[in-house]
Amino acid sequence: MAFAKCFYSLLPLLVIFLAIQPTLSNAQNPEEVINKICRSMEEFGFCNQTFHQNLRSPAATVADLAQITIEQASSNATNTHAFILNLLSETTEPALKNALTECENAYKIVGDSFQRALVSFNNKDYDGMRDAERDTPRAEASCTTTFNTPPNPVNPLDDRNRQMRILIAMAVVTASELTS
Ligand SMILES: *[C@@H]1O[C@H](CO)[C@@H](O)[C@H](O)[C@H]1NC(C)=O
Ligand SMILES: *[C@@H]1O[C@H](CO)[C@@H](O)[C@H](O)[C@H]1NC(C)=O
Repeated sequence: MAFAKCFYSLLPLLVIFLAIQPTLSNAQNPEEVINKICRSMEEFGFCNQTFHQNLRSPAATVADLAQITIEQASSNATNTHAFILNLLSETTEPALKNALTECENAYKIVGDSFQRALVSFNNKDYDGMRDAERDTPRAEASCTTTFNTPPNPVNPLDDRNRQMRILIAMAVVTASELTS
């Protein structure tokens, strides 16, 4: 009897604890989350620097980090897409022209995908965001592969492809952190 009374008087507390407990465990230290994400990247420094340069608050959440990856990936894709169009307009060499055309298509896909990811993010549809990003690694890779295929034209996008690849990996890993 005493036990039952005690139990029922504690029940509201238990309910409150269970209700807030998931929020507590989600409130991770941003520095730890950044380290965790960036340790799985090919370049820790570029990843860490990109997050830190764009952090709006020291109390950033995983969603804030996901937003940073989408914004940086979008802007890289848009800039490089314009850069490729410009190169294409000046290129007459057929092998290079073919490769650049492949890359123009790849960066268009990457840019469009991150636009869709941003719309989903803004609707707090994080599963939709993750799904929108899903095809970006393969699209990006097609631009690297085309330059590694005979006749192996000199690749004017090497450094941009490397940065794009890391930004995409950051986005995909952060999205899976957010939706896990
Ligand atoms: C990540 O970058 C920040 C800001 O530049 C720096 O303070 C921090 O030490 C870096 N993290 C690691 C593990 O190097
Ligand atoms: C790509 O993103 C990185 C990280 O935000 C930035 O430093 C770099 O200038 C961007 N490059 C282009 C071509 O937009």
